[in-house]
Amino acid sequence: MSNTLIDQKEKRKIGILVVGLRGANGVTMCCGMIANRRGLEWRGPRGEHASANYNGCITQLKQRGVHGGVGFADVVPEGMLANVNDAAIGGWDVRPGGMGDALLEAQILDYDLVRQVKDEMNKSIQVKRGYYDARFIGRSQHEGATHILDDCSSTGEALERIRADIREFKTSNNVIGHTTVIWSASVEPNCELVYELNSSEELLRSIDMSEEERGSPLSPSLIYATAAILEGCSFVNGGSQNTLCGGLEELAMKNSCYCLGTDFKAGQTKFKTAAVEYLRTMGLTPKVIASSNHLGNNDMKNLATADKARNAKLRVKHDIFAAWEEDIDHKVAVMYTPMINDEKRDFVEYTSLGFMDQHHTMVTYTRASDSVLCVPLMIDSAVWCDFFRRCNQAYESVSRSLAYLFKVPEGGAKGVDPGFFRQMEELKGEVNGIAQALKSRSLTLSEESKPSSFSRVTAEKKNVQSAGSFTLGDTAIVCAGLACVDMQLVNATGGDGGESIDTFEGETSIGGGR
Ligand SMILES: NC(=O)c1ccc[n+]([C@@H]2O[C@H](COP(=O)([O-])OP(=O)(O)OC[C@H]3O[C@@H](n4cnc5c(N)ncnc54)[C@H](O)[C@@H]3O)[C@@H](O)[C@H]2O)c1
Repeated sequence: MSNTLIDQKEKRKIGILVVGLRGANGVTMCCGMIANRRGLEWRGPRGEHASANYNGCITQLKQRGVHGGVGFADVVPEGMLANVNDAAIGGWDVRPGGMGDALLEAQILDYDLVRQVKDEMNKSIQVKRGYYDARFIGRSQHEGATHILDDCSSTGEALERIRADIREFKTSNNVIGHTTVIWSASVEPNCELVYELNSSEELLRSIDMSEEERGSPLSPSLIYATAAILEGCSFVNGGSQNTLCGGLEELAMKNSCYCLGTDFKAGQTKFKTAAVEYLRTMGLTPKVIASSNHLGNNDMKNLATADKARNAKLRVKHDIFAAWEEDIDHKVAVMYTPMINDEKRDFVEYTSLGFMDQHHTMVTYTRASDSVLCVPLMIDSAVWCDFFRRCNQAYESVSRSLAYLFKVPEGGAKGVDPGFFRQMEELKGEVNGIAQALKSRSLTLSEESKPSSFSRVTAEKKNVQSAGSFTLGDTAIVCAGLACVDMQLVNATGGDGGESIDTFEGETSIGGGR
């Protein structure tokens, strides 16, 4: 079967829209993409030489070494995984000001790099006004939230404004490919109403109602997510709130786009899933994971000033290790430490039972910028959404393949092995299967250079390894992940078997593992 779409090798300009664009993640991502485009070099804090790269972004890196094992960029035919240097970037924030100024204020990346991109970021990246509801954000963020859609009198109106922003973004940037909207805004308290929105009709009806009619507020993240899906964009929930609901998933199915989450698994949590897998693979029985982390960025500040009563009530506990059935006592303690800003430290002690029930104890210490850990997941999630969408991949297989990005694999990924390497194997199996099918020209690609051209997808898949498909008519969709793992546990003191956070004695800040 011929496949002219592969032969064309056109430059694919995917779209990445970030909610919370002026935040630590947003500015770090934009700076990295500009630096890569321009091939920038700079001096680090001690004068050492540094240069732009996509380390950590497995969709952008090629395989390396005799046995490969690094990136995916050359596993599939050239151009199939979009080059993010060509991507269009945009988004919303409730805080006013230029992107370059926000980058400088964030104090995350080396100053010698920041000074080279600051003006370009201020001039070239437009930040749209955000949809804001003070009930869904920590008190510390209220005063600065002035760049908002304050002329919207209803959620229905806000939805239409965000949809118009998305359309304008795609057209003015001449996006060729899929657009993904990523929630990288402040963590919200969970939205009570979400549990009642089980169909797309209920969701849309609820957005159309006044607050008096519906009886309680809808979270901004739900409005952004709905707008994204109605515009044919995928939505990725990088925060820990309960945005993904049945209604949103059904809407994603109807609009042939993906809806993934929840909560990026960027650092501590990801390493835990690798370390525990290692212990189990050795034949040991992990029993206790006692961890602490401290961090002082704005995300933590927001969490530290969130409405504790509400958060405490709405907290979600979820055991990421439940599938292993080993009854692991897993606790996380968190401290808000403004002095170290985005430079997070985490300590984790693992105690396992070895031969003759003797204790085996191991400690890990990680120190890394939170945003530098998270941005590659944002980039990769957008590139994967475009890739899988283009290859018409089905719900279950893609949900399982992308489980490695999120703290809790739910939706089609439910029951996936929690181990990091097992999750990467799922991804490899899927991508290798697609690579083979593309080589033998037995996979039909879909094109979506124009939003209107991909309302339905034909899930034609031959020779493609797939764990199964979840289709609605001829539509292939992906929906992965729901619950938050270890965030928003204000004043929590242990859990009921699930992963939970203990705060230190007298410490009132909150947050969660990454
Ligand atoms: N960095 C990590 O390692 C990591 C890992 C997992 C999850 N996350 C999540 O990613 C998100 C972003 O993290 P960050 O460090 O960039 O936070 P941040 O506080 O630096 O940035 C959040 C931005 O969102 C904006 N914002 C808040 N509400 C908004 C709204 N309704 N509309 C538009 N903009 C809004 C804020 O003004 C702020 O600029 C958080 O939810 C965080 O929990 C981060």
